[in-house]
Amino acid sequence: MSDFKVAVIIPAAGQGTRFGGDKLGEDLGGRPLLLRTVEIFTKREEVATIIVAAPPESIDEFRGRYGAQLGFHGVIIVAGGRAERWESVRNAIAAVPQECTHIAVHDAARPGLNEALLTRLIDAARVASAVVPGDPIRSTLKRVTTETFAAAPDEAVADAILGDAGRESVRGRRVEATIDRTRLMAIQTPQIFSAELLRRAYAQDDLSDATDDAMLVERLGEPVLVVEGDPRNMKVTTPTDLSIIRAILGHRVQEQRPAHKRF
Ligand code: CTP
Ligand code: MG
Repeated sequence: MSDFKVAVIIPAAGQGTRFGGDKLGEDLGGRPLLLRTVEIFTKREEVATIIVAAPPESIDEFRGRYGAQLGFHGVIIVAGGRAERWESVRNAIAAVPQECTHIAVHDAARPGLNEALLTRLIDAARVASAVVPGDPIRSTLKRVTTETFAAAPDEAVADAILGDAGRESVRGRRVEATIDRTRLMAIQTPQIFSAELLRRAYAQDDLSDATDDAMLVERLGEPVLVVEGDPRNMKVTTPTDLSIIRAILGHRVQEQRPAHKRF
């Protein structure tokens, strides 16, 4: 549809601190995770432009590694922010062509986005100017203390069953409160906005503490619509997440496949 042209911004400038290294370069079925994420968007006719925000301090290395394949898809590479995700998005917004009616922002670290979810979001974005996917919280939520404490069992339990075993070696936090989880959602990306609204959101003076893009739209007092997300659209934050996403997507780690089983 020519009246609906999306520029997709993919922030990929993070350092993967919690992962312990470059998570976006990890193998996902023979291709780097970053390219898997980008490829989800290259097939969509609604997508006019894809802009990837790269780590500013190693942008040459990034271009050397991904430039050819990203260039093949017509992807624009811009320098992201050193510290904050919002800096990366802000830099990428500056490269969005004027003809785009909408801007979608999707974490590079979410390669599990699927066609059905993307279609759901695009359909919603045709009628609402800010749309985000949300996954209902299934766990019981508790707020706990900042400090950890050595496990201190009841005296009777300790003496009768445990003796000194476990004392001091087990630490934990204390529960302060249980939070009502009804109406709580874990918010994902892609988040899709009318281009005018997202530009206005990022033109605000204070962008600090924004952990997602919708927060800046909320600060304007504009409504944000949450549609049904998908637990498979998880963010790869830790090495365990990478194992989970490989299982979800059905990819094996190539190095671990014995040669005699490759056929
Ligand atoms: N991101 C970015 N620019 C930053 C920080 C993050 O473009 N300055 C991107 C990441 O590359 C990632 C997405 O934002 O695709 C979500 O961030 P997160 O999962 O926190 O990734 P990292 O910041 O790399 O990880 P960590 O916080 O553990 O360092
Ligand atoms: Mg981060």
